[in-house]
Amino acid sequence: MSAARRFRIAAIPADGVGREVVAAGREVLDALAAGSDGAFAFDWQEFGWGCEYYTRTGRMMADDGLTVLKEFDAIYFGAVGWPGVPDHISLWGLRLAICQNFDQWANVRPVRFLPGVRSPLRKADDTELDWVVVRENSEGEYAGLGGRNLSARGPGSEVAVQSALFTEAGCERIMRFAFDLARTRTRRKVSSVTKSNAQQYGMVLWDDVFRRIARDYPDVETESVLVDAMSAKFVLRPEDLSVVVASNLHADILSDLGSALAGSLGLAASANLNPERRFPSMFEPVHGSAPDIAGQGLANPIGAVGSAAMMLDHLGLPEQAARLHAAIEATTAAGILTRDLGGAASTEDVTKALIDALNP
Ligand code: NAI
Ligand code: MG
Repeated sequence: MSAARRFRIAAIPADGVGREVVAAGREVLDALAAGSDGAFAFDWQEFGWGCEYYTRTGRMMADDGLTVLKEFDAIYFGAVGWPGVPDHISLWGLRLAICQNFDQWANVRPVRFLPGVRSPLRKADDTELDWVVVRENSEGEYAGLGGRNLSARGPGSEVAVQSALFTEAGCERIMRFAFDLARTRTRRKVSSVTKSNAQQYGMVLWDDVFRRIARDYPDVETESVLVDAMSAKFVLRPEDLSVVVASNLHADILSDLGSALAGSLGLAASANLNPERRFPSMFEPVHGSAPDIAGQGLANPIGAVGSAAMMLDHLGLPEQAARLHAAIEATTAAGILTRDLGGAASTEDVTKALIDALNP
């Protein structure tokens, strides 16, 4: 079928449940396109990169992988990591290689509370909770700077250095992104996560930049909170949050906490954006490859489907993204839940329910 708008999407399911949830997400997106009366369609190309590819070839992705991916409109990613391949090899060889080379410096991770899903927070029953974690995705603690076994000290006396990199430009762009996002939300507030009491160089620069950028957004409320206090705040006063901007490591940890509070790691969606659109952006669930449940049809596809909704937004189809979010809410509200949410539905059951909810 020929469609008015065609989007070239690179699918990289990679490992474990990544394969199951990417397959689910593709099905849902194709159902959406099929119901669009030819308004839009997706041209998928799937890449079999990941840990299995690594054991065969010694590489996590093809040599020319980045050159090939560069031509796509977006990347739809599953999860990487499998027992037998060290996690730092698999993560750096694929996911971080894409994020860093394509300068996907903004990682957006909404914390969404869904109807029919029980939060471990009692407060969630009667309080409107909805916030988004904006993660600096290009430098900070994951800059990959450091070394091991310096000066050949050898076994038993090894030394490792892992340095965090903070640049003024890097801090500024992620903070402006957070402030601009806050302006699109009901509650115009940005909370900056810091640790400048203990980390007196990088995090103090982070704080300085935050204060400077905040002056350009007088209509946006601000606060600066130490990361340890922020983790308590996620649990105790989450109604006070709207946009939370944090460094690579801090936001990585806090967004898992956020998704657990919303009910399960399997629900959390994310977008790795290159806001200048010089490179394709990448959309992926927050969770990993979950080897403990992989291959059993137990994976919750909602994180991956929510990530597909973020991809639709990025591709200029916001009304379709809204339809997808509505289908997710209808599905959870109807009690069609995977085991991580206390239900008995399979990945396939939920996928089918999502598709039915799209075309009632
Ligand atoms: P994980 O996110 O894979 O699993 C943590 C827990 O959440 C497990 O109990 C798992 O069963 C559950 N879970 C995760 N996704 C789920 C889903 N869709 N539905 C239902 N339950 C789900 O984190 P873990 O165990 O720390 O890491 C496993 C592997 O994944 C490692 O190799 C790690 O390096 C990799 N990883 C990859 C990421 C990525 O590709 N973006 C992110 C995090 C971890
Ligand atoms: Mg993480």
